[in-house]
Amino acid sequence: MLAPMPDRDPDPTPPAADHNLTWHAGQVAPADRARAMGLPPDQLGMTLWFTGLSGSGKSTIAVALEQKLIAMGRPAFRLDGDNVRHGLNADLGFSAEDRTENIRRVGEVARLMAEAGLIVIACFISPYRADRERVRRMHEASNLRFIEVFVDTPLDICAARDPKGLYAKAASGQLTTGLTGISPDAPYEPPESPELVLKTGELGVEGCVAGVVEAMS
Ligand code: ADX
Repeated sequence: MLAPMPDRDPDPTPPAADHNLTWHAGQVAPADRARAMGLPPDQLGMTLWFTGLSGSGKSTIAVALEQKLIAMGRPAFRLDGDNVRHGLNADLGFSAEDRTENIRRVGEVARLMAEAGLIVIACFISPYRADRERVRRMHEASNLRFIEVFVDTPLDICAARDPKGLYAKAASGQLTTGLTGISPDAPYEPPESPELVLKTGELGVEGCVAGVVEAMS
C-alpha cells in the first residue's frame, strides 16, 4: 500500500504571478520511492552542502565521501562547482549576481535530486549567507534534510595549498575575476550555525568523512 503523499510547502522562489503556472502534485511518497530503489523506507534523499574557500578541501572530502557512501549502499552523487560550471552554469562568471544565480540553480538541482531519493554532496564556495539560507529553505519546503558543512580552512592554508594556482595568479594580477577571500569585492561570509564544521587543517580526509557520516545519522 502506498504511504500518504506529503504536500509541498509554498516555494521560497515562486514564479511570477503572470506566468500562469499550476503545480501538479505527484502521488508517490518518499518512503515508497526509497523502497522502489531497494532502500529501507526511512533512507530518504538529502543534501549535504559543503561551503568554504577555494582550496579549503571541499572537493577532496566530497570525492572520498561519495566513495564511502556508495560502499555503504547509499545512493550518493556529487555536484561540484568547477564541474557544474562546465555545463549547466557555463554561462555564469564570478560577479556577485552570477554567484547568487549559480547557487540558486544548483540549489534547485540539489533539491530535485534529493527529492528523487539521492544523497546529494554539493560543494560550492557559496560565499553568501543569504544564498545558502535560500537553498536551506528550498529543502525545508520539500521536507528534505539539509546539512550545511562548513569546511573551515583558514585563508593562509588555502593559499599555501593553492591546488589550482589561483592564489598565485591573484597575487600576480593575472586573475580578471575577484578571488573569494582575497579581493575586496569577493567576500566570504562564514556560516553562523552550520550543522557541522570541519577543520581540515587539523583533521585528515578520513576524519572529515567520518564526521559527515556521523552527522547524517
Ligand atoms: S561560487 O562562488 O559561485 O560558489 P563555485 O564553487 O561555483 O563558486 O566555483 C568555484 C571554482 O571556480 C573554484 O574552485 C575555482 O576553481 C574557480 N574560480 C575561478 N575564478 C574564481 C574566482 N574569482 N573566485 C572563486 N573561484 C574561482
